[in-house]
Amino acid sequence: GSVASAVVQRNPNFSTINNDDLIYFEKILGAKKVIQDHEELETANTDWMHKYKGSSKLMLQPENTRELSQILEYCNSRRLAIVPQGGNTGLVGGSVPVFDEVIISTRRMNNIISFDQVSGVLVCEAGCILENLISFLDKKGFIMPLDLGAKGSCQIGGNISTNAGGLRLVRYGSLHGTVLGLEAVLANGSVIDMLGTLRKDNTGYDLKHLFIGSEGSLGIITKVSILTPPKLSSVNIAFLACEDYISCQKLLFQAKRRLGEILSAFEFLDSQAMNLVLHHLDGVRNPLPSSIYNFYVLIETTGSKESNDKATLEAFLLHAMESGLVSDGALAQDFSQASSFWHIREGIPEALMKAGAVYKYDLSLPVEKMYDLVEEIRTRVGTAANVVGYGHLGDGNLHLNVSAPQYDDAILSQIEPFVYEWTSRHRGSISAEHGLGLMKAEKIYYSKSSETVQLMASIKKLLDPNGILNPYKVIPSSLDVHMKS
Ligand code: FAD
Ligand code: MLT
Ligand code: ZN
Repeated sequence: GSVASAVVQRNPNFSTINNDDLIYFEKILGAKKVIQDHEELETANTDWMHKYKGSSKLMLQPENTRELSQILEYCNSRRLAIVPQGGNTGLVGGSVPVFDEVIISTRRMNNIISFDQVSGVLVCEAGCILENLISFLDKKGFIMPLDLGAKGSCQIGGNISTNAGGLRLVRYGSLHGTVLGLEAVLANGSVIDMLGTLRKDNTGYDLKHLFIGSEGSLGIITKVSILTPPKLSSVNIAFLACEDYISCQKLLFQAKRRLGEILSAFEFLDSQAMNLVLHHLDGVRNPLPSSIYNFYVLIETTGSKESNDKATLEAFLLHAMESGLVSDGALAQDFSQASSFWHIREGIPEALMKAGAVYKYDLSLPVEKMYDLVEEIRTRVGTAANVVGYGHLGDGNLHLNVSAPQYDDAILSQIEPFVYEWTSRHRGSISAEHGLGLMKAEKIYYSKSSETVQLMASIKKLLDPNGILNPYKVIPSSLDVHMKS
């Protein structure tokens, strides 16, 4: 691997694939689910950002829990390391191998199992693509409680494994609240059925939570049960401009009060992010072209009273403009305009990709301090890179991105460890929603106490005694008991 191999070494306790292994996998799966094709492997070895690259020679695509269980039981007995892979849209190098780990793709496990119209509980396989679930539910008059720019490729199993946040967390909460049940397969192949559909169940430890956000390090999620909200008739979106960051904060404070229960998204981007999108994505127009503003805020409301909700948002905007918090604004007049507003916000990661190399930081910080960090990093890197700030302001989640023509250690040394120390000092989190993956496994102590990390390592050892599940990720190598022979 490129960036990766510089920091970790292959664990010599792991076996390498031999011919008998291939014969066994073909016997249990059939040849078409055992992938050795160079091109397909090249894609699966490379992450979305083209930053992390493994060298796996084998990808398996089981079709159901039984096949997956057989694969894991075998890999465990042979000490073959594996990496679970969903849509491969992860941003921390967690979804691709570091060395020659076997890639286990969930793409063929994509059936919807059941949907309950009364409770709104959807049960499906882990490989369902998020956008397909959104379309399925739309026809039934429901929505998914999460939405994100990667919806066309990411899978619900990957979303749950990263505990993805996304654009509507401010309204529907985290997956720890909406996921009601899971089925997962452990390293030794045992299938753990926690696929409940109940809202309330206090029978002892709620172990499904261990799998939500554990990035494939404790087991592979095969089925999920998730509570979906009804689709409400009235959705309104405003795209606003603010002159300074303090106005964005005040706007959030006001939105929480004046829009209250209908607020469904509160996102922000700075002028650097806006410029990237306008420059790199086709067909994007600035909704507020009359001037260049320092900050843009996207506010969405979702409710059930069409005329009331729109009037509420209009009154909110009027008040914000009169009080000087907002310098300019546009309210989407139809569905296509609403989509174009969202396209600007959701298109930032893609625009950053097109601009060159990108150092991505995904931080939870106190809202009032958040943008100070962007400015400090801007000062530190000077003209060598473009520093961009955007994110889920309503959740206190900053996406700080440093965009450069290519990866450059001189730039990196201006960012790290400064960015982590700063975050730690403000009692923030070094990963709000993307996870630790390979990128931040060694940085975990900036956000967690050593006792907590020690307990994580003990749980890992209990569930995956040979350490075959997504090695080199999440847990720092000094605590990876499997690295010691
Ligand atoms: P992958 O990338 O394939 O895997 C992610 C991790 O989960 C890996 O560690 C992998 O090993 C593990 N994994 C995958 N499937 C399973 C499984 N079934 N069982 C166990 N482990 C598994 N994230 C946010 O939180 N909010 C956002 O708004 C957001 N927007 C994004 C926008 C874009 C354009 C992109 C490219 C990414 C975005 N992300 C966002 C990152 C986010 O982590 C992913 O998009 C998504 O949650 C990952 O799903 P995936 O199926 O692609 O998983
Ligand atoms: C987003 O909010 O756009 C995603 O988390 C992706 C990113 O941060 O680049
Ligand atoms: Zn995000």
